[in-house]
Parts: sequence; structure tokens; C-alpha cells
Amino acid sequence: MYQALQKIIDNSSRIVFFGGAGVSTESGIPDFRSVDGLYNQKFDVPPEVILSHTYFMEHTAEFFRFYREKMLALWAKPNAAHRKLAELEAAGRLAAVVTQNVDGLHQAAGSRNVFELHGSVHRNYCRNCGKAYPVQKIAESADVPRCDCGGVIKPDVVLYEEPLDNDVMSGAVRAIANADTLIVSGTSLTVYPAAGLLRYFGGDHLVLINRDETPADQYADLVIHGKAGEVLDTIRV
Ligand code: OAD
Repeated sequence: MYQALQKIIDNSSRIVFFGGAGVSTESGIPDFRSVDGLYNQKFDVPPEVILSHTYFMEHTAEFFRFYREKMLALWAKPNAAHRKLAELEAAGRLAAVVTQNVDGLHQAAGSRNVFELHGSVHRNYCRNCGKAYPVQKIAESADVPRCDCGGVIKPDVVLYEEPLDNDVMSGAVRAIANADTLIVSGTSLTVYPAAGLLRYFGGDHLVLINRDETPADQYADLVIHGKAGEVLDTIRV
């Protein structure tokens, strides 16, 4: 069905996939900015504020109430997009996945080289002693999750006002700079510095697969307005 996409894939050997929340909507996790997205629901305090470092420090219990309800989707399963990307990597065609998502669904589908720009709900550390905790600890705590030492356990998720991890960022830059094809999907490309990573791409084909238009459509060699899972599912590896 998507012959132009298949042709590009067939002629690529170092594909990098750059994705966002739209990659997981077909798994049942709402994105942030669509009409049914997280940011369009009504909250007393805007989610961008709740998901900030200041709010985490000053309203820790409220942060975790929101986080447990809206950010943890431990029931979600990888969809066709996650699965096809893992398949492309296993076949030696895809070099890396760069994602803004924190849900861990790429790894759950079998992807190995994943740069999680905004961290992961699956890593959690005590702010006091650094002890690591599984996500279940956060999910099961009634209030503020606390370490055996008494310290607050913080998810390794990048909050507003927090910097991105240097190693993750430079790994993502390297992967994108070395890619022959960059597939951008499921992201509104409005959040920086993540969205700025596209500038490092100097390869042959920029492909955009997104439900709605993005600011990068005009630069792409191929734009498909559709659902990531449905479109990627048609690719023959
Ligand atoms: P957004 O919610 O801003 O954008 C999601 C994009 O995915 C929109 O352009 C949708 O049209 C598109 N979309 C939705 N479902 C889709 C599907 N099935 N197939 C293809 N496209 C689909 O999400 P992000 O760009 O990921 O940051 O947002 C970036 C960051 O903003 C997030 O990582 C998060 C948020 O604040 C942090 O939490 C730090």
C-alpha cells in the first residue's frame, strides 16, 4: 500500500526512528496535545506545571497522585509500530530508536538500541541514597514513595525545568547524524531540545508518519498522514 515508504526502507540500512507520544496511542496511552490528549483535559493545575521539578519538590504528594493516574500505564502493551521497529532492528536495517516516550514499550517489543530522551517510568531512584526501585514500588505506594532510608523515590523521568541526560542526548545525536533514513512519527515536534535533533540528520530520506501535520512536513521527502502502527505494519522487512 505505501510503496514509496517500502522503497525507501528497502534501500536503507541505517534507519533511525524518532518518535513521540503518538507512537503509543494505539496502545491506549493518550498523547499530550491532541484534542483527547492529556493537556486538553481539565485539571486544577495544568499538567505542564504538575510535571515540573518545582512542583515535584513543593507538592510531592500531589505530583505522585497525578503521576500514578496519568503517567503510569503499566497495563499497556506494544502495538504494531513498536513491533515492526524491533523487527527492523533485528534484521539489521534499523540502527536506533530515539523516543520522547517514557513508557518502555519499545524495549517491551524487543528493541535494544533505544535512546529515551525523557527517561523512563521503569527506572526510579532514591533522592537520598540512590537505591534503585522498580516501577511497581511507585504504583503500589499510597502516597509519596519512600526508600528504606526514608528518602523520596523519584522516577527517572525528565520533568520540566530539568536537563536531558548528556549521554542519551549525544547518543541520539550520533545515531541521527549517521542515519541514512530518518523516520519521524507520533510527535508534534513542539518540545525542545528533543525536536531540534532533526537538524542533525544529513542522510538521504526524511520520512514523516504522523496523524496531524507537523512543522517538519515541509522538509520531508515523504509525508504520510496516518497512524504509526497501521502504516508501519504494512512494511515488509
Ligand atoms: P504530542 O502530544 O505533542 O504530539 C503527539 C503527535 O502524535 C500529534 O502530532 C498527533 O497528531 C500524533 N499522533 C497521535 N496518535 C498518532 C498515531 N496513532 N499515529 C501517528 N501519529 C499520531 O506528543 P510529543 O510530541 O511526544 O514531555 O510530546 C513531546 C513531549 O511533550 C513529551 O515527551 C512530554 C510532553 O510534555 C515530557 O513529559 C518531558
